[in-house]
Amino acid sequence: MKIHIINGPNLNVLGKREPEIYGYTNFKDYFTELQFKYKNIELSYFQSNIEGELISELQECDDVDGVILNAAAYTHNSIGIADAIKTISTPVIEVHISNTHQREDFRKHSFITPVALGCILGFGLKSYELAIKSFTDD
Ligand code: DQA
Repeated sequence: MKIHIINGPNLNVLGKREPEIYGYTNFKDYFTELQFKYKNIELSYFQSNIEGELISELQECDDVDGVILNAAAYTHNSIGIADAIKTISTPVIEVHISNTHQREDFRKHSFITPVALGCILGFGLKSYELAIKSFTDD
C-alpha cells in the first residue's frame, strides 16, 4: 500500500513553530519514525509553503492508495486545493495537529472537510498515525 503525506505552509518548521501548540518534534524526524514503524507501507512525504505546488502535487496522486493532507493555513481559504482533491480519485484524509475548533473562529471553517474522506484533528502528530491506521486497519 502506498500512502502519500502532503504538508502545507509552515509545517516545515515544526519543532520551533509555536511549540506550545504544535509540539517540539520536527516533521522529518516524525516521518522517519513512521517509516520505521510502518515498514509494510510505502510512505512518502511532500511539503510546500506554496498553494500551487500543493495543488500540482495532489494532481499527481492518482497512483497512490491514500493521501494524508494537512493543508495548514490553506485549509481555511483554498478553494483551489479543495478542487484538486475533487479531481483525483484517490481518497484524501484531512489532518490537523491542533484541535482547530478550540482555536480562533477563522480556523473553524475548512474547505477541505467537505471533499475529504474524513478528518482527524487535535491529537498532535499522532493525527497522522491515526490517518495511516484508518487507511490500513480493517
Ligand atoms: C494546522 C491548523 C491550521 O489552522 C494552521 O494554520 C496550521 C496547522 C494544524 O495542523 O493544527 O498551520 O493545520
